[in-house]
Amino acid sequence: MDHFLYHNGTLHAEDVAIPDIAEAVGTPFYVYSTATLTRHYQLFAEALSPLPHLVCFAIKSLSNVAVLKTLGNLGAGMDVVSGGEYLRAKAAGVPGDRIVFSGVGKTRDEMRLALTGGIRQFNVESEPEMRALSEVAVSLGVTAPITIRVNPDVDARTHEKIATGKKENKFGIPIARASEVYAEAARLPGLQVIGIDVHIGSQLTELEPFEQAYLKVADLTRRLRSEGHTITRLDLGGGLGIPYERSNSAPPLPTDYGALIKRTVGDLGCEIEIEPGRLISGNAGILVSKVIYVKNGEGRDFMILDAAMNDLVRPSMYGAHHDIIPVAEPPVATPTQEFDVVGPVCETGDTFAKGRDLPLVAEGDLVAFRSAGAYGAVMASEYNTRPLIPEVLVHGDHFAVIRARPSFDEILNRDTIPSWL
Ligand code: LLP
Repeated sequence: MDHFLYHNGTLHAEDVAIPDIAEAVGTPFYVYSTATLTRHYQLFAEALSPLPHLVCFAIKSLSNVAVLKTLGNLGAGMDVVSGGEYLRAKAAGVPGDRIVFSGVGKTRDEMRLALTGGIRQFNVESEPEMRALSEVAVSLGVTAPITIRVNPDVDARTHEKIATGKKENKFGIPIARASEVYAEAARLPGLQVIGIDVHIGSQLTELEPFEQAYLKVADLTRRLRSEGHTITRLDLGGGLGIPYERSNSAPPLPTDYGALIKRTVGDLGCEIEIEPGRLISGNAGILVSKVIYVKNGEGRDFMILDAAMNDLVRPSMYGAHHDIIPVAEPPVATPTQEFDVVGPVCETGDTFAKGRDLPLVAEGDLVAFRSAGAYGAVMASEYNTRPLIPEVLVHGDHFAVIRARPSFDEILNRDTIPSWL
């Protein structure tokens, strides 16, 4: 469920008409709904109650500081994967003891940043990283709380580029070697082992792979405890998928996911962390674009938009589907036509949809890509020197620009000409 609905024939974000935002900021732009972000965060928090828990929003999915502050104010923790994301969480006012540091290649600088600024835990992904963290913590005279990310060798049955829990993936340590690695962690100075971490992939549309992974984590918890380790926290990762194609998909709900967690690891007396990104932010955002031209090609018609692959890369990168809807609600029984929906970038890959059946549109009409809140703005680039597009946050009947479109001067001024030229 989200808060992008038609009212009086016009698409709204909560109580704000999309054309009003387009008028104020120009197109294309991202717009996010506070009510949807809030609702999705709360669904997870309720699904895990009464277990002691922390829902850590995966910042990588949508990292604007205003969004982080919205969630942080509700009590959310943050899952960060870089020094930059750590600083974003801090800038949003989230205290260090609610920030979890994930990622397969944390540098010593990033470790220092988090250890001095405050951190809930590091999710360590390899032995060399564990040794580096031990050295950094000792050099600072502090103790780093850690979980170790285990790779459970489970098939998440998702797109190969976002599956992370198979043994051939680069993530975590093989679960079969956990005893050995935990024993070394316990010996290393400057580290305090507190739990286990697992994350098997993103956009999972079934619960079964989670179940397999969490049962393995439950077994491992018992085994590590019997080997003398104190395991009080389980970080179960993110990955719950969303319905990108409303007409034909219904992934499991956070309540089902919460019930699964209780069933698999709920009796271990551990504090539970999860790291959802997409399910909180995905349907909380849309990308609004304007039709520049409708071009009748040979055997196919192209809808050429002012948004392109640099603004929303998911279709060209993963072949991902995003529903595209007109901002002006089409009257019932409006004829539709098949379009290839494309952007202006000079690559055939700059295609959002092929042969998509859409209501007829004309030049200047606005369209919206649904479910674009997650991995949309954060993956954008300035390819073709197209400025990063603005982000807007709606709250009830008002909205604010939370990242402005840069001017061309700002973009050009970032380049510097060496003295010899
Ligand atoms: N935790 C870890 C350690 C992760 O690697 C990820 C996502 C998450 C949590 C959040 O997963 P989510 O709940 O959002 O599925 N760019 C891709 C998705 C990449 C996901 C990377 N890791 C896309 O556009 O589909």
